[in-house]
Amino acid sequence: MVLQHATWPEVEAYLQRSRGVVIPLGSTEQHGPTGLIGTDSITAETVARAMGELAGALVGPTLSMGPAQFNLAFPGTVSLRPTTLIQVIIDYVQSLARSGFTHFYFMNGHGGNVAPTWCAIQELHADRSLGREAATPLQFRLRSWWDLAEVNDIRQRLYGAGEGMHATPSEIAITQHVLPDSRRPDKLPAPALLSPGFIKFHAGDNHLDAQAHRAQFPDGRVGSNSGLARPEHGEALLAAAATAAARDYAAFLAGEPA
Ligand code: NI
Repeated sequence: MVLQHATWPEVEAYLQRSRGVVIPLGSTEQHGPTGLIGTDSITAETVARAMGELAGALVGPTLSMGPAQFNLAFPGTVSLRPTTLIQVIIDYVQSLARSGFTHFYFMNGHGGNVAPTWCAIQELHADRSLGREAATPLQFRLRSWWDLAEVNDIRQRLYGAGEGMHATPSEIAITQHVLPDSRRPDKLPAPALLSPGFIKFHAGDNHLDAQAHRAQFPDGRVGSNSGLARPEHGEALLAAAATAAARDYAAFLAGEPA
């Protein structure tokens, strides 16, 4: 069930049986010469809606912009400041909390969203801890689809170190599956492998400013061999993500620890 495609009586009826909602988090940023600028939003929304089908969960509107300042030297990127995303998430959650939702499951498709989303969750908890919010306590879970164990196994098996960090073959494969006509020919050479130290320091898209980032990664890919992507991989990755996330969502609603 997709919130935007529902009516208010349908949402009211849904709330009689569930207080949970899935919120897809994406980004609008370059994904290398062959990846779509909407890759992170397309992947997050597709996984969220597929898991929502399996779990009988309501799926809210995709937040299709996130912090991506490091990609602003590539045309077409639209970036929010981290503080903007924090405020948008707080307003999104508080709006639905007003309706009666208590369990918020974020399905994330962009590394740069992770830190601001945790900050927003802490701001929401702080409101209650400081006595400014008397309503029912709110519960949150944040998952990036590629971190789900079953998905991680597939992408390691298919791509190994060629998965890299940005414009990954796994995310591009999902867009190729969802939008078959969008596939571009990709004869790009494999980029240099990233060092373990680089991957650790830059986790969560903790990158430099836009000029420095483009100078460091001239074609926009960060260690990712995008040419390995195949639509059939995307189909398998999506199926694994939806199944694992639906199971994780059920555990979340049941109060089991992450
Ligand atoms: Ni991405």
